[in-house]
Amino acid sequence: MTTRAPKGTIDVLPPESAAWRRLLRAFDSLAERYGYGLALTPLFEATELFARGVGEETEIVSKQMYSFTDKAGRALTLRPEATASVVRAYLQEGRTGVLKCAYSGPMFRYEQPQAGRRRQFYQVGVEYLGEPSPDADVEVVEVGYRLLEELGIRGVMVLLNSLGDPEDRVEYRQLLRAYLAERADLLSEDSRRRLDTNPLRVLDSKADVAVVAEAPATLDHLGPEAAAHFAAVRLGLERRGIPYEIAPRLVRGLDYYNRTVFEYQARSYTAAQDALGGGGRYDPLAELLGGPPIPGVGLAMGVDRIVAAMPEEGGEGSLGVFVVLADPGRRAEALDLVAMLRAAGVSADLDLGERSVKAQFKVAGRRGAAVAAVVGAEWAEGRVTVRAMADGEEETVPIAEVAAWAQAR
Ligand code: HAM
Repeated sequence: MTTRAPKGTIDVLPPESAAWRRLLRAFDSLAERYGYGLALTPLFEATELFARGVGEETEIVSKQMYSFTDKAGRALTLRPEATASVVRAYLQEGRTGVLKCAYSGPMFRYEQPQAGRRRQFYQVGVEYLGEPSPDADVEVVEVGYRLLEELGIRGVMVLLNSLGDPEDRVEYRQLLRAYLAERADLLSEDSRRRLDTNPLRVLDSKADVAVVAEAPATLDHLGPEAAAHFAAVRLGLERRGIPYEIAPRLVRGLDYYNRTVFEYQARSYTAAQDALGGGGRYDPLAELLGGPPIPGVGLAMGVDRIVAAMPEEGGEGSLGVFVVLADPGRRAEALDLVAMLRAAGVSADLDLGERSVKAQFKVAGRRGAAVAAVVGAEWAEGRVTVRAMADGEEETVPIAEVAAWAQAR
């Protein structure tokens, strides 16, 4: 047997990858429109970055990291997420002020693979650094919402909560710990341990949903500044026409958040407990990484999950023109025609396998070509027969007009 892809990873090949390309393009153009420049950071980082940034007690750091030692003995980890990396890069470069950046790429978490949960998965995300205003939170939530909207995903709902500021949490943490301690015998082993180390993490525990459902909510314990910030975020979302629901138990699985946290859910995505994306404000993160205080807010969307929620493309051609070679003596001319079309901005291809005309038409159909252009005897008169694949409409046109004919289809 040949070697298979590792557990929890997938291959994405044509034609299924067309949906991925559509998503990545939509994200790229959206991020650019909203003023986010491209950020590229390493796929692996010092393990310490995630331990300090994401948090020792999180599921991600305590159980899911792909960590290894390199040949020089450095402790490294394949990135489970990119926010810590972007903030590290900002600090390392000695940046100040606002930096808005967008990224896309694979992330790695050692999870139990299931639908929508993989060990290597793909995220697109934005980070808005250096800006404390609630309008930045609103913009970031909007970017994710518009992406889902542009991709035709219906019934998207933003779940919204505020965790308050670290100083608000001192009192809240005591209340929460007392509440959980009274019910300690109902809690999972992990949650019992976290009671002392990081009780907020218990709220994120999938194993303790019943106990968590009645726990005190952060929203009832916001300080005046965090409360005003949250009110402004809500108002901003309403002004932008973004539907949201308050989700008082939403804490998210990473330790760096304060104030706003949010996730996107969609009716068309059946693994209902799983979010299509999420994010929040992480003003404490830069300091956790040893830097000065730098406010920030961001989001990451799960590409694997969004693709699963996207409506099927309506049989739309993925290729403009498929060139069919009817006269084997004119192979060089057929290659010239393909080159000419490509230069004119039309996606074009041909079969290099010396197959029959019938077989070439079959390939054209399989490749989703909108138009087939037949290079045959008419080439001698400077003409090519073009056929619209959808309705069979056929015409013989001058070679120079093939591109325009295809573009009109
Ligand atoms: P996260 O909630 O851990 O946040 O991941 C964001 C999204 O990535 C999830 O909503 C989900 O769609 C997708 N995702 C996560 N794990 C998997 C998996 N194992 N398989 C498939 N998809 C997955 C973050 O990563 C934060 N860095 C987001 C953020 C950016 N916060 C501020 N800025």
